[in-house]
Amino acid sequence: MAKHVTVVDLQAKREQGKPITMVTAYDYPTAKLIDQSGIDLILVGDTLGMVVLGYESTIPVTVEDMIHHGKAVVRGAKRAHVVIDMPFGSYQEGWQQALHNATRIMKETGCSSVKLEGGQRSAEAVRKLVEAGIPVMGHIGLTPQSVNQVGGFKVQGKTPRDAVHLIGDAVALAEAGAYAIVLELVPTALAHMITQRVKVPTIGIGAGPFCSGQVQVWHDILGLYDDLKPKHARRFAEIGEQIKVALTEYREQVEAGAFPTANESFYMDERALELIRRMTPGADEDMSEAERVLREMETTSIPQATPQQAE
Ligand code: KIV
Repeated sequence: MAKHVTVVDLQAKREQGKPITMVTAYDYPTAKLIDQSGIDLILVGDTLGMVVLGYESTIPVTVEDMIHHGKAVVRGAKRAHVVIDMPFGSYQEGWQQALHNATRIMKETGCSSVKLEGGQRSAEAVRKLVEAGIPVMGHIGLTPQSVNQVGGFKVQGKTPRDAVHLIGDAVALAEAGAYAIVLELVPTALAHMITQRVKVPTIGIGAGPFCSGQVQVWHDILGLYDDLKPKHARRFAEIGEQIKVALTEYREQVEAGAFPTANESFYMDERALELIRRMTPGADEDMSEAERVLREMETTSIPQATPQQAE
C-alpha cells in the first residue's frame, strides 16, 4: 500500500524550498485524478457548498455534508494527504465542540487532518485538537465563513493595522500547533512576510508566489464553473466546454439513431430465447422481431439502423 503524504513530509518540503500543491475535491473520481497527478494534498473544502451543492456561500454546509463527501474523497486518495474543512457552526462554540466534530470527521472519513478558519480566535481550539492528536491546518486572510462580517470576498490585510493583526493570527496558529496555514486573498508582500515569520508551511490562494505552496479550487482551474471567475485562478483547461460538446454529440447521436449500435448492444443465446418463447406464448413474435433486427445490425456496417428504422 502506498504511503500517504504526512505533515512531516510537508514540513520537509517547506524546509527544502519545494513548493507544496493542493487542490480541492468533493468526490471519488476527482480524488483519484488528483492523486494520480502527484498533488500533495486534497482539500475537501466547504466550497463544496458553492461549487457542488449550489448554495450562495459556505455557511449552510454541515458536518454531515463534509463527512459524506470526505469519505468518497478518502476512498479515491491512495497517496495524497486528505484534509477536510470543519464547516461553519462546527467549532465556533468552543474547543469542546471543535474536538467533538473534528474527532467525528477523522473517525468517520479516515482523512489525515482537518482545517478550520480563524487566527487568534481559533487558536485555543487548534491547540486542543493538536493535543488530542489531530493535525490541524489553519486558514486566515479572507475566511469565507465570515463573509457576512467582512462584507464580501475581498483582499484582507491591506492597511497596516489589518496586516499586523494578520501576522499575529499566523503566529498564534503556528504556536498553537497548526501544521500549515492557508492564506486566502492576502497581498503578495504580506503573504511573503508571514511565510518568512512562521516556521510552518503557508499555502496561498490569491496570496502570490512566495508562499510555501498553493491551493486552488478544482472547478476554477479546470473551467467547470462560470458562476465565479476569481482573479487568482488560472484556467488550465476548459473542461466545461468539452463536456458540453460531448453531451451535445451524445444527444444528437441518440436522436439520429446512431447510438447505440450493435457494438454497444447485447445478444441472447438462441436456445435460451427459444425456451423463453415457449414459456411466454404470445411474446415470441415481438422478441424474434427484435432479435432479427439486432442480428441484421450485426452484419451491416456502422452506423446501423435502429429497430424502428429497420421495419
Ligand atoms: O473551502 C475551500 O475550498 C477552501 C479553499 C478556498 C482554500 O477553503
